[in-house]
This record gives sequence, structure tokens and C-alpha cells, in this order.
Amino acid sequence: MSSTEGTSRSVIPANLLKGQKALVTGANSGIGKATAIGLGRAGCDVVVNYVAGREDAEQVVDKIKAMGVRAAAYEADVSQEDQVVAMTDRMVEEFGTIDILVANAGLQRDAPITEMTLAQWRKVLDVNLTGQFLCAREATKEFLRRGVVPEVSRSAGKIICMSSVHQIIPWAGHVNYASSKGGVLMMMQTLAQELAPKKIRVNALAPGAIKTPINRQAWETPEAERDLLQLIPYNRVGEPEDIAHAAVGLASDLMDYVVGATLYVDGGMTLFPGFATGG
Ligand code: BGC
Repeated sequence: MSSTEGTSRSVIPANLLKGQKALVTGANSGIGKATAIGLGRAGCDVVVNYVAGREDAEQVVDKIKAMGVRAAAYEADVSQEDQVVAMTDRMVEEFGTIDILVANAGLQRDAPITEMTLAQWRKVLDVNLTGQFLCAREATKEFLRRGVVPEVSRSAGKIICMSSVHQIIPWAGHVNYASSKGGVLMMMQTLAQELAPKKIRVNALAPGAIKTPINRQAWETPEAERDLLQLIPYNRVGEPEDIAHAAVGLASDLMDYVVGATLYVDGGMTLFPGFATGG
């Protein structure tokens, strides 16, 4: 059992985010799922967004509800403007407001440059970058409408962009994905600069290799995992809960002075591990 799922062993403080309303996109699996559960554990009511995988999303909702908070699964493709607007409007109507957005939904469509189709390029940019832009825009409208409610949080709202170590590590064969995450870095910093005076905190998490369906082939056999560990000084592949814990912390007032930052949660993958012995 993972740490966010266990009731007795969780390291997440139960009331840290009490009463806050969180929207997590792409929350039916992987990092989004663990983050939605972690936010529920911390006391949030949670909207579990999904685009495919309704049953999985409903299971995440059930897990969150078992913690004594509210949860609901909303279907929306984050790359479609009308669907994002409908989703955030519905959340405000049914949950009252939005305090935390975790713009997590993302995908890969890998190919060498000469084989990458325009459709593959566009799909990844549409979901990973435009999707975050649309969700951030709509959540920001609600943060500004509501303003700061001091009993709830010191800030009017928190946006956590799910980036990747590939916002700074080039990645051959993945030009669409790396470009989308490089875009997330500059989008996040620009929004943070623009919105900080309005008491809205925008930050990013940059996961390294985390055991989720997106990269299963990189860790599922012992040989693959051994190769992957060459890139990770901390010598373990991450779990979705590693990201969930960071998201809960970043969303909380413990981190109220953290604005426009990227927190790398990567076991040291961005530390140029090849130089541990060379150079
Ligand atoms: C990618 C994974 C990859 C990891 C480290 C993530 O952003 O989605 O496929 O394993 O970066 O390279």
C-alpha cells in the first residue's frame, strides 16, 4: 500500500489544507491520481478530472471520499477551451470555489524528428502546454473573483504546473514533449510574475522518472530499471506519492513565500550524474 492510500501510515498532515477545493487534471492515473488522493488526505475537497478512464476516476473519487472529504469526477479534455470552461464553472457551482489547481494532465507521443507527424507534435503541445494555459486562465478568474479568505489560506489561489526534468534536459526522440515542458517553464514563470501581486502563487513540480504508465517500459524489467538507475543518483525510481507529497507541501501556506519556483523531485536526475566519475 502506498503512503497516500494508507490511513495509518500516511506522512501527510490531515488538516494541512482543510476546507480547500482542489482541481487535479489527469487524475485518473499516475501522478495525478496520487496527487488527488494526497490532497484529499490533507483535507481538500477534490475534483478528479479525466478525459478517458471514467472507472479509474470513480475509484479515485471513492478513495478520496473515504477520507471524509468531498470528491467528484469531471470529464474534460484540457486542450478544448469549451470543456475547460465548463469544468471550472461546474466546480465553482458545485464546490463553491477553486483554491488549488494542479495542472497535471500530460502525455507523450514519441518519435524521431523525421518520423514525427504534425499530429503528434500538435497533440503533445495541445495537451501539455495549451491545456495548462487554459486551466490556469480559468482558475485564475475564480481566484481573482473570490480574493483572499484568510481563514482558508494566505493566498488567493495556488497553481501547480506539472512540468518535468525535461523542461531543462534535452531528450532525443521526444522533441514534442521536451518542447512542451520547456514551454511550461516559461509559462509558469511568466504567470507567477504576473499574478504574484494578486496574491496568486504559481509554481511547478518537475518530476524525474516516476513509476507510472507513461514510462512503464523504462522501469518494468530489472534490466530497464538498472539502466534507468544510472541516471538517478538517489538510486531509486520515484513513486507517484513522491510527487503527491511535494504537491501538498507546495500548495500549503508552509510554502507561502515560494513563488515562481520549480521544485525538482527527481532523485538527483538533474545533477548531471555522468559527472560523478567523469569530467
Ligand atoms: C517522462 C518520463 C521519463 C522521465 C525522466 C518524464 O517527464 O514523462 O517518460 O521517464 O521524464 O526521463
